[in-house]
Amino acid sequence: MKILAINGPNLNMLGKRNNEIYGEKTLAEINSLLEKQGEALNVEIVTFQSNSEGSLIDFIQHQADSADGIIINPGALTHYGCSLCDALADTSLPVIEVHLSNIYGREDWRAKSVISPVAKGQISGLGWRGYIAALRTLVSELKGEI
Ligand code: DQA
Repeated sequence: MKILAINGPNLNMLGKRNNEIYGEKTLAEINSLLEKQGEALNVEIVTFQSNSEGSLIDFIQHQADSADGIIINPGALTHYGCSLCDALADTSLPVIEVHLSNIYGREDWRAKSVISPVAKGQISGLGWRGYIAALRTLVSELKGEI
């Protein structure tokens, strides 16, 4: 089983970026925790980050046929990334949207996600643990666990 773990714009700056909101961990640390959890679940994790919507779409298009599910933190593209949303929908894969911060408790413009309609679900405000929860949930569902 293969899961794509995708991060959008500015998430390469985690650890140096607004730590009170996004936490102390770098993206490399979060990805390494995801990979460890992936090993424990016997699942391959393919990580990708880009600051450009086009590169995120290219990655999704190239990887979708060989993947089983997607975990994505789209960064600010959450709020206006309609091309990214279309690319995710075109894969027909189960998608879990993750946000480190609670996007409903911040500025009004953050409370709208254009990605949510194509996601199975969303985890918002649980910090780095949200990625791990997303992975466990996705894999459990894909394995048909009850
Ligand atoms: C974010 C929330 C977005 O509003 C913001 O633009 C980000 C990070 C989060 O993880 O909380 O870049 O997706």
